[in-house]
Amino acid sequence: MRGFFLSFILASFIYAEDMGSLLFHGNCLTCHHETKTISAPSTSELRQRYRDAFFSKEEFVSYMSAWVKKPSYEGSLMHDAIKKHGLMPELGFDDDALKSISAYIYETDFLEEGKTHPKR
Ligand code: HEC
Repeated sequence: MRGFFLSFILASFIYAEDMGSLLFHGNCLTCHHETKTISAPSTSELRQRYRDAFFSKEEFVSYMSAWVKKPSYEGSLMHDAIKKHGLMPELGFDDDALKSISAYIYETDFLEEGKTHPKR
C-alpha cells in the first residue's frame, strides 16, 4: 500500500515529455523497435518519414497523433509499410497521450547509440 502511494506521488511529478517516453515504451515499442523493422516499421523510420513530410514540430505532432488515433490508408505516409505489414490497429488512446508520445518521437534520435538503451 505504501509502495503504491509513493509511486502515485512520483508519477504526479513526471514531466509531460517523460510521460511521452513512458507511454511510448509501454505501448508502441512492442511493435515499433527503435531501429529494426520487425513486425512494423522501426521508430526511427517512422520519425524520418514524418520529419521529411512536416516542417514544424507542431505539424509533425498533430498529424502523427491524429493518424495513430484513427489509422487509415488514405491518411498514411507509409503505403509501402501497410502493403508489407497490414494497417496498424486502432489502440484507443486519448489526444493528450498521443501528443506526448508524438512529441517524444519527434525529439528523440533513436539512432544515436545509448540514447534509449543506456550502456551498462
Ligand atoms: C500491434 C502492433 C502496433 C502497435 C502496438 C503500434 N503500431 Fe504503429 N504501426 C504498426 C504497423 C504494422 C504499421 C505499418 C502499417 C501502417 O502504416 O499502418 C504502423 C505504422 C505506424 C505509423 C506510420 C503511419 C503511416 O503514415 O502509415 C505511425 C506514426 C505509428 N505506427 C505510430 C505508433 C505509435 C505512436 C504507437 C504507440 C502509441 C504505435 N504505432 C503502436 C503496428 C503497431
